[in-house]
Amino acid sequence: MADFTPAPGGDTPGTAAAGGIPDLPKAASDSDCARERALALLRQRDPYGKAAGVSALRDAVRTGAMRWYPSRRIAPWRPPGGIDGVALNDQGAGDGEREAGIPGRPDAPPLVSPRELKQRAVTSVDGRAALLHALAHIEFNAINLALDALWRFDGLPPAYYDDWLKVAAEEAYHFSLLAQHLTTLGESYYYGCFPAHDGLWEMARRTSGDWLARLALVPRTLEARGLDASPPIKAKLASAGDSAGAAILDIILRDEIGHVAIGNRWYRWGCERAGCEPVATYARLAAQYNAPRLRGPFNLEARRAAGFDDAELAALQAGT
Ligand SMILES: [Fe+2]
Repeated sequence: MADFTPAPGGDTPGTAAAGGIPDLPKAASDSDCARERALALLRQRDPYGKAAGVSALRDAVRTGAMRWYPSRRIAPWRPPGGIDGVALNDQGAGDGEREAGIPGRPDAPPLVSPRELKQRAVTSVDGRAALLHALAHIEFNAINLALDALWRFDGLPPAYYDDWLKVAAEEAYHFSLLAQHLTTLGESYYYGCFPAHDGLWEMARRTSGDWLARLALVPRTLEARGLDASPPIKAKLASAGDSAGAAILDIILRDEIGHVAIGNRWYRWGCERAGCEPVATYARLAAQYNAPRLRGPFNLEARRAAGFDDAELAALQAGT
């Protein structure tokens, strides 16, 4: 199908207004390939090094020191015989379960089932720390999700990669703000001091071979849920007297509207190219990949600002 749809905007000089997929240079070497670098950062285990590396990558792309090579198919590095004694299968990219070291994460926090996480009242310092820790963990996962969107999916316009690098850099900023704020509550509080769950990455794994499903179900479903959750969490922090924590939630909500908007723009672009109807396609993908059914109350104002239209919001509220 001929594609006359302008790509959503990005910040690579000279390519933002390009329609479809332009003729792109082949990578001369790995050294300036920003998508290879995104994969290396995804595999990095230290969260603070990962966050700093994402900011550095964004600067390198902005100055032209690193470039996107969208036509490259990048395979995750796989050591012979497996990693950490775990044998790898031969499926290659697309089998998120077995990809070596993806995502890279620290030994702590330990990952447990959501049912094993204790609920604590935020009126206690320990409860507030647990809440801030859970938010920091979401942001850490969000860095990994944005990096995964960069290396895994090839053949997209440069503006796509610019957009997801922007998301990765903002998630890194959110993680840094929350992890730092957590430490102000006492010396026993730091990222890794509580257990956490792996729900966000689980959906990334399920959709690792389906780009449109990834957009539909990660940014437009799981991350959009953050838009609904943010105001009540901010209110809890404010009522516990944590004005600095509440101010961080304001920054996060502002940026997350932009991230969901990026997900919406690329999802629509993908639907248009594939000739499929966005609302019905969403319902089909949500069923196919067993996405969680979202429950209200919904932050309709933030969702509208993030680009959900009336038909999508009506379907959301009808639970379809
Ligand atoms: Fe975030």
